[in-house]
Amino acid sequence: TETRALNSTVTLMKVEAPDVAKRAKAGQFIILRVDDKGERIPLTVADTDPATGEVTIMFQVAGATTRLLSMMKAGDFLADFVGPLGQPTHYEGAKKVCVVGGGVGCAIAYPQAKTLHKMGIPVDVVAGFKSKDIVILEDEFTAACDNLYITTDDGTYGIPGFVTTQLEKLINEGKGYDLVIAIGPIPMMKFVSAVTKKYGIKTIVSLNPVMIDGTGMCGGCRVTVGGETKFACVDGPDFDGHLVDYDGLMKRNSFYKEVEKAKDEHVCR
Ligand code: FES
Repeated sequence: TETRALNSTVTLMKVEAPDVAKRAKAGQFIILRVDDKGERIPLTVADTDPATGEVTIMFQVAGATTRLLSMMKAGDFLADFVGPLGQPTHYEGAKKVCVVGGGVGCAIAYPQAKTLHKMGIPVDVVAGFKSKDIVILEDEFTAACDNLYITTDDGTYGIPGFVTTQLEKLINEGKGYDLVIAIGPIPMMKFVSAVTKKYGIKTIVSLNPVMIDGTGMCGGCRVTVGGETKFACVDGPDFDGHLVDYDGLMKRNSFYKEVEKAKDEHVCR
């Protein structure tokens, strides 16, 4: 029903899917196919409007499917839009939360902040980007948290430096977080978890492995958490950040890189 470029590579899209809009909670995702021969890709539900039946997704062009998706216009149809899938995020007992988003991961961090804010739980957001021109959702975050800290790696906007440095600074200032939710590139979630582990702060990360069926049958999304194999689509996508095998996840996620690149080049041609 609507598409909007948030920056040069990230698109916001609203999709009419009333059944999903009615039931989806923060942390859950959908799997879509652009057409009936298309690959299935998981995307986190960024927002819902049960009154209009719309579900908001945000995605970065990262390969053939997201490129095709970015070319769609209001009024077009997707072949499938299945969800909500996965477990909603559990906030039990949280008294003060810091949500940390990295790049397009901020699209997933946003519904977390919004939900916590609505629940009346104090929530700060640290949103990190490479540079000013790719900052997204600043107004939305401002309305959905108590304090917003935007960082840029190159210092062109907000606080110069990485989200980990800002998070550690806030912890040392005595913010008193008892839960950190980190969503973004795998190395970012790994390093955020390393910081919070030092201070003994519970940390949830949202994992993004390759997925196929999204219902726990194919095993494509398996990740190692605390030495056990878990399926991100049914056991997650949220996991204890201190227990995830990030290096294994990075290795599995790069497994189809060459094929993905070739397919994307084919679509571009
Ligand atoms: Fe198949 Fe999770 S996507 S088991």
